[in-house]
Amino acid sequence: MTDSNGTIKVGEKIYDTKVMPGTIGPSVLDIGSFYGKTGMFTYDPGFTSTASCESKITYIDGDAGVLLYRGYPIEQVAEHGDFLETCYLLLYGELPTAAQKADFDYRVTRHTMVHEQMARFFQGFRRDAHPMAVMVASVGALSAFYHDSTDISDPQQRMIASMRMIAKLPTLAAMAYKYTVGQPFVYPKNDLDYTSNFLRMCFAVPCEEYKVNPIIARALDRIFILHADHEQNASTSTVRLAGSSGANPFACIAAGIACLWGPAHGGANEAALAMLAEIGSVENIPKFVARAKDKNDNFRLMGFGHRVYKNYDPRAKIMQKTAHEVLNELGIKDDPLLDVAVELERIALHDEYFVEKKLYPNIDFYSGITLKAMGFPTSMFTVLFAVARTVGWIAQWREMIEDPSQKIGRPRQLYTGSPRRDYIPSSKR
Ligand code: CMC
Repeated sequence: MTDSNGTIKVGEKIYDTKVMPGTIGPSVLDIGSFYGKTGMFTYDPGFTSTASCESKITYIDGDAGVLLYRGYPIEQVAEHGDFLETCYLLLYGELPTAAQKADFDYRVTRHTMVHEQMARFFQGFRRDAHPMAVMVASVGALSAFYHDSTDISDPQQRMIASMRMIAKLPTLAAMAYKYTVGQPFVYPKNDLDYTSNFLRMCFAVPCEEYKVNPIIARALDRIFILHADHEQNASTSTVRLAGSSGANPFACIAAGIACLWGPAHGGANEAALAMLAEIGSVENIPKFVARAKDKNDNFRLMGFGHRVYKNYDPRAKIMQKTAHEVLNELGIKDDPLLDVAVELERIALHDEYFVEKKLYPNIDFYSGITLKAMGFPTSMFTVLFAVARTVGWIAQWREMIEDPSQKIGRPRQLYTGSPRRDYIPSSKR
């Protein structure tokens, strides 16, 4: 047991620990010396009660449904800013002045092209490769192309690597898409803003003029803002852990992308859309809700529930509005998937099981419908998440590298395997 002074009682023994307060949110108990004092490790699979680092970047109050980037509510950032402004905010800690913003946009824009050799690197993939597999490989491969920004002890190189990744991820993502559909790669066009340029690299073809729809570009930009950072989630923790060994930043971000791919994390938007399609029509919803509630059935309502939010995910509200805006703009009046989504949300928000377990729609519930309407295939959904989250990963990686108390991440374990035993030669087994 612990008391408010941070003393922990184990059996009859009392140990002093330090309570570290945050600016907002729960304080933490500093248990760094706990093993040395007690000979015991603490046990917290899934890190549900463990703060792995100190951070000044993003704050979440999951019970209240609050998300702040550097102190600013996500609703305000998404409504008033653009994605590159969010990148600046996350990286530097403050909103940019007009001059700082113009300079930042210019610097990102100068890095949008990838080494021409990268195009040949792509030829080695099968055409039906999942674009996330291509992303893991190609982002990792950036470290083979940009040796001059892999020295993590040099702040200048850290900044160049950061700018390179923010700028080149959309280019690589668009190339991953173009490769799967068998169309030529489209080079970046630097007089377009970040998101318009990305849309053009995905959907333009050399034989036709491509006009960016500003409403769709603004909607996608907002989706990027919503996904930009989310404190110490699985992929961010992966990036920090990989970075704690001194690995180069491109390798660390590739590790984050690999982690994001899983269906319980970034892969959920793809899974949520597949589930809506499987449900098919409003009449089938009760059957699927009953399956989600059945303990003997491992079916879950994808796009519902969150490790941290035990209230409506604030990003999901903005995402829902964005979904309606995009469908209206594209003249999609009767999308059966949207009908199923709206009704499923209504039922789940009133169903005792979901209410009691505080399972609210998360950001992925509406993002799949929106991205599909924009023309992205489901296999690209998690790739778009990776494009947006890159800045969050980088900001967190840099914060870790610049933290003087940083050391290699090395969790311990509760060993429950065999005690020591002697090897038996195969003839005697
Ligand atoms: N449908 C039905 N039941 C659920 C769901 C769901 N989507 N999510 C959680 N539960 C139940 C679960 O069965 C458990 O019940 P019980 O206590 O009776 O065993 C209880 O709620 C708590 O679930 P948990 O798995 O212990 O909660 P968690 O915090 O470990 O999991 C989660 C969070 C997001 C992995 C989970 O809610 C889930 O699998 N949701 C569906 C996948 C999804 O939408 N993921 C996107 C997350 S948001 C994007 C991101 O940040 O990457």
